[in-house]
Amino acid sequence: MARRVNSESRPANPARSGPVQSSLATHALAEQNVPRYTSYPTAPHFHRDVGPDTYGAWLAGMPEREPLSLYLHVPFCRDLCLYCGCHTKAIRQQAPLDAYAASLMAEVALVADRVGFRKISHLHWGGGTPSILNGRNLSDIVSCLDAAFDLGSLREHAIELDPRHLDRSLVRVLARLGVNRASLGVQDFSPHVQQAIGRLQPYDDVARAAGMLRDAGIQNLNFDLMYGLPQQTVEDVRRSAAQAVTLSPQRIALFGYAHVPWFKTHQRLIDAAALPGASERLIQAELHAHPLDGFRGDLRVGRQVFEVAAGCDVDQEECQQCDQGHDDERISQSRED
Ligand SMILES: C[S@@+](CC[C@H](N)C(=O)[O-])C[C@H]1O[C@@H](n2cnc3c(N)ncnc32)[C@H](O)[C@@H]1O
Ligand code: SF4
Repeated sequence: MARRVNSESRPANPARSGPVQSSLATHALAEQNVPRYTSYPTAPHFHRDVGPDTYGAWLAGMPEREPLSLYLHVPFCRDLCLYCGCHTKAIRQQAPLDAYAASLMAEVALVADRVGFRKISHLHWGGGTPSILNGRNLSDIVSCLDAAFDLGSLREHAIELDPRHLDRSLVRVLARLGVNRASLGVQDFSPHVQQAIGRLQPYDDVARAAGMLRDAGIQNLNFDLMYGLPQQTVEDVRRSAAQAVTLSPQRIALFGYAHVPWFKTHQRLIDAAALPGASERLIQAELHAHPLDGFRGDLRVGRQVFEVAAGCDVDQEECQQCDQGHDDERISQSRED
């Protein structure tokens, strides 16, 4: 599925700290209403007329010799973070999660029926928080995938995880299922930013989650950080990245916060006056220009990573103001200018 963000610019809040270090052209671009995020297949491919026949034709048209990558979206979380732009909803009961797992398995069978017993090179669980399904459902779905596809040459089996909701038994299940890469949502370690975004998650919780995953043999860890959050300063972004580095992730992905309260109504609980202005955001996004002491991994600023590239099922009109505005297109384009 695809997501695309564009339309309205943010309120023109003044920068709250630091000099404007970006070029005028870059600054001007940041103030414009320009497309900010696009993933494949792009949003315009999805509209009300796309039904089983169209989707079936797309599946049937895939090159036969290429191995496939599968993405499984689980649109549920225990609680909603105030900033969240993902396609997800808060859920407390197990029954709807079991029902969703059953639907996913039915979908796997339908897709396999169209594409045949194909080699899979990448398997990715995104959300939401996919592990909320529980170990039994995850195991059943992987068994179902194993029966429907050739997983023998799987190169990457990745999952997005919330470090606040991990325990050793779940981590053992993930390792047994062959998960070899995990993305942890971190965002910012500063208590005042965590308070403003409704997600209290001390450094020790993330360290504990990373330790459990590594103990179980899942070594390839990615941390999601964010900039442009309410009450967040350049120093918060820098310090959070430095703290993340102490946990030796293989990759840090730094996303620009997309404030789209007309579309994600829970974001109305965020005080727009506390958001950094465009200039401040750009300075925060410049983090990649500064060396992070001791970091040997891959730092991606504002770039799209696969795990956030799916899951939007809104129609095209809504997609014009869609979620997940990670600023990737805009920032990377402006750097190339
Ligand atoms: C599916 S979540 C990660 C896994 C898990 N649900 C968690 O939060 O720990 C994907 C990531 O998208 C990013 N994200 C969420 N809402 C966003 C928004 N409004 N703008 C930019 N990035 C956002 C966050 O960095 C988040 O970690
Ligand atoms: S950021 Fe992650 S945990 Fe928070 S609501 Fe969004 S998907 Fe769920």
